[in-house]
Amino acid sequence: MYIPFARKYRPKTFSEVFGQDTPVRVLRNAVRLEKLSHAYLFAGPRGTGKTTVARILTKAINCLQPKEGEPCGVCENCLAIDRGYFPDLIEIDAASNRGIDDIRSIRDAVSYAPLKGKYKVYILDEAHMLTKEAFNALLKTLEEPPPRTIFILCTTEYEKIMPTILSRCQRLVFSKIKEDHIVENLKRICQNEGLSCEEKALYLLAKLSDGGMRDAVSLLDQTSTYGEGKVTVQLVQEFLGIVSQERVREFLLMLLNSQVDDALKFITEISQKGYNLSRFLDLLEEEIRATLLYRSLKEPESVIRVEDFHRSLDKVPLNALLYLEKVVNMVRLDARSRDLLRAFELAIIKTQIIKEIVPLTELYKMGLSQKVSSAQEQREENREDPIKLLENKIETLTLEALKRSKYEVSENRIIFYIKEGDISPEDRNRIKAIDPRIEFVIEESKEEGGLPPFAEKVKDIFGAKIISHEKRGKGKGSSGKSS
Ligand SMILES: Nc1ncnc2c1ncn2[C@@H]1O[C@H](COP(=O)(O)OP(=O)(O)OP(=O)(O)O)[C@@H](O)[C@H]1O
Ligand SMILES: [Mg+2]
Ligand SMILES: [Zn+2]
Repeated sequence: MYIPFARKYRPKTFSEVFGQDTPVRVLRNAVRLEKLSHAYLFAGPRGTGKTTVARILTKAINCLQPKEGEPCGVCENCLAIDRGYFPDLIEIDAASNRGIDDIRSIRDAVSYAPLKGKYKVYILDEAHMLTKEAFNALLKTLEEPPPRTIFILCTTEYEKIMPTILSRCQRLVFSKIKEDHIVENLKRICQNEGLSCEEKALYLLAKLSDGGMRDAVSLLDQTSTYGEGKVTVQLVQEFLGIVSQERVREFLLMLLNSQVDDALKFITEISQKGYNLSRFLDLLEEEIRATLLYRSLKEPESVIRVEDFHRSLDKVPLNALLYLEKVVNMVRLDARSRDLLRAFELAIIKTQIIKEIVPLTELYKMGLSQKVSSAQEQREENREDPIKLLENKIETLTLEALKRSKYEVSENRIIFYIKEGDISPEDRNRIKAIDPRIEFVIEESKEEGGLPPFAEKVKDIFGAKIISHEKRGKGKGSSGKSS
């Protein structure tokens, strides 16, 4: 009989659990030192090991020959729990037994001593689904716990658990599992199953599962069946209808470059070709997230896999990235009232503003504009160098000051970003007289962060706090690696 990977590879001991070091350590020690709590609350996202760990704990405390807090896995009790017929383990799905009667029947049964093991364990899955009355009935049981009975409440929605319940449970937080850990597990499964896999494909699966191990393992199961024993990037992309990473990144650059036409064409095309736009959005968000984390953390490698692509965006102003993140984030919200393609289109249109956040000159320095469409490219190339324009027409000192400042050339405007005091108002007027396209923007001093003129516009649209003076340049977020 075929057993799905997610079940076949459910960890059987604490040491086999990936990426949940804290809860696992707390529980192992509690078993070892016999300091068990009578009620636990396991809180965390789907498929991260809550039920699994609850079962391991049940084994560990009922095992006939435990070792250092771990169950032996071979004694009568361990086997019975693994096979699902241990009388003292009662698993209740609160989603389908949410009422007071269900909880009352638990309460009545609780008074009986364990039949076979040392402890009787109740695992209440999806505990947040219980009704208020059921919670209240449960409360009484938790208040006066019968001896040798342990309750484990599992939930993905911690906020929905009543505070009175919370205060009676020891809370253990299960976190999303890091990509590296997921890939490690997937590799192990591939080896065991004799599957040939590309490491990159496993990373892609990990990325798509957003920290959930169950999802990752199930996706591996499905794609390897689809690929008849092979798991390659190509197969994963094909099977799940996803766009390659290169193309996701290409699109990201289009947005940063405000290449509205190209981006619209791109998204329409992938939608027409039947790619999964929702997955595309996932991947796009992941890239932006990785870039932002890389820019913001002292040790980004501890959280994400930093790649050259993320490093190459080093010079993009943090504001531009934060703005982009916000815009892309809105796609999902917008998609509720219109379809995903329309929501994408709206987002693309909003990214026009980015070119005002990122001065063109900066983009050139970054080499980001390589992909600008050819017509635009030509226009860019023909543009004059505003410094040349002024050479020999103004004082050398003033010219030097201008050379030091950032400038931006667009269709019929030449903007110099200067500091207060760099060039006197009289000099500015004289320069403007030489070429009326020239404008000056006085930037505030460095410490203040110097908010470019786009700010007000962005604020209008999003009321965004993130680009205010206070946040810019001061928090560790934009220090060091930012421009
Ligand atoms: N931390 C982990 N290490 C290894 N495998 C894991 C881990 N978490 C989940 N899995 C895999 O995912 C499957 C489902 O995990 P589990 O039932 O414990 O998740 P859960 O947190 O209870 O999810 P849900 O909230 O949906 O009930 C397991 O059988 C196992 O294959
Ligand atoms: Mg569960
Ligand atoms: Zn045992």
